[in-house]
Amino acid sequence: MQFGHFDDSSKEYVITTPRTPLPWINYLGTQDFFSLISNTAGGYSFYKDAKLLRLTRYRYNNCPLDNGGRYYYIKDGNTVWNPGWQPTQTELDAYSCRHGLGYTVISGSKNKIEAELTAFVPVHDPCEINYLVIRNTGSSPRHLDIFSFVEFCLWNAADDSSNFQRNFSTGEVEVEGSTIYHKTEYRERRNHYAVYSVNKKIEGFDTSRDAFIGLYNGFSNPEAVLAGESRNSIAHGWAPVGSHHLKADLNPGEATSFIFVLGYCENPEDQKFEAPGIINKAPARRLLEKYQTDLQVKNALFELKHYWTGLLSSYTVETGDEKLDRLVNVWNQYQCMVTFNMSRSASYFESGLGRGMGFRDSCQDLLGFVHLIPSRARERILDIASTQFEDGSTYHQYQPLTKKGNADIGSGFNDDPLWLVASTAAYIRETGDFSILDEKCAFNSDPSKAVPLMEHLRRSIRFTRTHLGPHGLPQIGRADWNDCLNLNCFSTQPGESFQTFGPSEGPVAESVFIAAMFVKYGKEYAELCDALHLSEEASDIRKAVKEMNEAVQTSGWDGKWFVRAYDAYSRPVGSHVNDEGQIYIEPQGMCVMAGIGLDNGKAEEALKSVEERLDTHFGIVLLTPAYTSYHVELGEISSYPPGYKENAGIFCHNNPWIVCAETILGHGNRAFQVFRKTCPVYLEEISEIHRTEPYAYCQMVAGKDAPTFGEGKNSWLTGTAAWTFTAISQYILGIQPTLHGLKIDPCIPDTVEGYTVNRTFRNVRYHIRVENPSHVQKGVISVTVNGKLMEGNIIPPVTGKSEADVVVQMG
Ligand code: BGC
Ligand code: NOJ
Repeated sequence: MQFGHFDDSSKEYVITTPRTPLPWINYLGTQDFFSLISNTAGGYSFYKDAKLLRLTRYRYNNCPLDNGGRYYYIKDGNTVWNPGWQPTQTELDAYSCRHGLGYTVISGSKNKIEAELTAFVPVHDPCEINYLVIRNTGSSPRHLDIFSFVEFCLWNAADDSSNFQRNFSTGEVEVEGSTIYHKTEYRERRNHYAVYSVNKKIEGFDTSRDAFIGLYNGFSNPEAVLAGESRNSIAHGWAPVGSHHLKADLNPGEATSFIFVLGYCENPEDQKFEAPGIINKAPARRLLEKYQTDLQVKNALFELKHYWTGLLSSYTVETGDEKLDRLVNVWNQYQCMVTFNMSRSASYFESGLGRGMGFRDSCQDLLGFVHLIPSRARERILDIASTQFEDGSTYHQYQPLTKKGNADIGSGFNDDPLWLVASTAAYIRETGDFSILDEKCAFNSDPSKAVPLMEHLRRSIRFTRTHLGPHGLPQIGRADWNDCLNLNCFSTQPGESFQTFGPSEGPVAESVFIAAMFVKYGKEYAELCDALHLSEEASDIRKAVKEMNEAVQTSGWDGKWFVRAYDAYSRPVGSHVNDEGQIYIEPQGMCVMAGIGLDNGKAEEALKSVEERLDTHFGIVLLTPAYTSYHVELGEISSYPPGYKENAGIFCHNNPWIVCAETILGHGNRAFQVFRKTCPVYLEEISEIHRTEPYAYCQMVAGKDAPTFGEGKNSWLTGTAAWTFTAISQYILGIQPTLHGLKIDPCIPDTVEGYTVNRTFRNVRYHIRVENPSHVQKGVISVTVNGKLMEGNIIPPVTGKSEADVVVQMG
């Protein structure tokens, strides 16, 4: 069953009922100011940091689920309705929500009044625009009352949702004309405030939630709206809100528009006050004057659309498969941008309070983003590196506003350091910009300890090499990529009482997954050394990679697949000797991607085992058999009921690893089959089962052991976006940036006749036509560039030209 459809020509998903299985959301904002908006206008806004600078309030796990947002109430006689249906839930005569790239248009109509709300964050200003157009499509004049509504968050969203004894007394607002200023905490060293304004003269306003809604009512029936007039309330503490009352008197066929701006304003410290105690409104005035006319709004929206068209043109395909094209050309890359911006901080399932920017998460998000805006990827890498410790270990997360490591979570996830190598190497392959390696980055955010980025990578590599366990495999620490495999948090001897090691300790438990990462990213590091003429270091690291590869072959091979880990008693995890959790997906994907076992059949065997044991209709589960009871020596993984999350859920993030691995072995048919299974655009017709948005990947789909097999959870913020884009763009379609140029190495289903990719690479536009007349899955027999036959399949950077025509013959 579908709840909408794709509109490819306008790059929108059109939702045709407000009653989606879950709120289906969109992200507004490209750089600093962000909003989440659901298909019924729910959601919230923040500036830079979802925890520390939240403009509007949102209550998670609410009832109804999605309650709170930017709400526009239309009072038409005794009927009160919202164009997005919520919160009044008044039945509409027509409804649609078009989620586009950075904007959302929600339209509703009731009794021959049409209302259309366009919400977006302009490219250059820290505000959300709500452009509301109301039209009388009937044959008699109409007199409508319109009430806007947002609820302010008192900035620090964590404190806002817990410290009520304080917060019920801090709220302060001011109203001047049609502008509501939310200035809570301004008197306390703060330099920022929020505005919520409309471009028309208002009939009245409210800033006290209790006055607007009434103590015993809710968002669905605010007293002021029912009464048809604002209370002109000023909030003193309690819950400040912003609401304007406007009138629309419309003749038949007539329309009117309102421009609402919700903005973040900041003053330099020395210009905080206009006069003692009076906030400096200059930034607000400057912001608001830019959005007073319809033309200004239309231009800003046009600029946003143009911005996105430009970004997405960096990689486009025409494959003849409409679904694949819309995924690659629009939605997958869009999600890569969103994950780059948000990391795992703010979604409808990540509250924005707990998790800032993840170290490993952001490094991986970069893999799918770096081709879009390399300069921002560069800046991000330097920010991330600056949170590393001198011994090469890293904070697991940092806060986007302060860019400082999160000490509550600390370090000890031993895969983290190697992801920095992965992201930096990907950046340099994309851009050829080796100068990033000379940039000085702090350790633990202490600028007095800054060293070149290359030294950070070196310490990442060294960290793994100096933290090996009894089998010569890397120590896992608190966990590796799989946060829930906690092998060091339990008794030291069977039967002994519970005891935990320090955060990054535990010298016995080892990870085959980190070993595979070391082989893969160690080689990439060695290539960087080659390019820098550090030949001794390059051969030293290649030696270490070789030893690690041998350790995996010796101690990480179970007979038919790669072992997952060794626990703190040195017993294998993910082995046939285990009763449950005999085979895990992660080491199969990462080992093959690293090239382990390619020459001796192990890679083939491992992927065959994945297909035989882990594959399902909806994707590949993380492990099997699922753990049926809790194991203290394995940790959180066994705390989930079978089939959910890391306990045998289909963790979408590592499905593309198998896709990549299959292409390395030349299995184009199988690679694409795996690719399709978790791909949301192919699941649109079963949205009642999948439940999450058909235009965004979710983190996890319930596995075969779960009662709700096929149900998606935690949409949007997942490394799946970046890895899927990597899998399809580089491994299947085979356009791979390398240090030496663009490599063309497709691995496709043998039914594919050919396809076209347009790819910008180091400022050159490549028009690549791949032809597959003999219907092979892999193999390039010739590459011509501008009519000239090349040797091999790596196109060296084209100089002196801005375009290149490439024809690739497979066979
Ligand atoms: C989840 C993981 C997640 C981790 C983050 C766990 O409960 O299952 O998927 O990465 O929390 O802290
Ligand atoms: C989600 C986390 O964001 C990610 O870092 C982790 O690798 C996966 N869960 C698996 O546990």
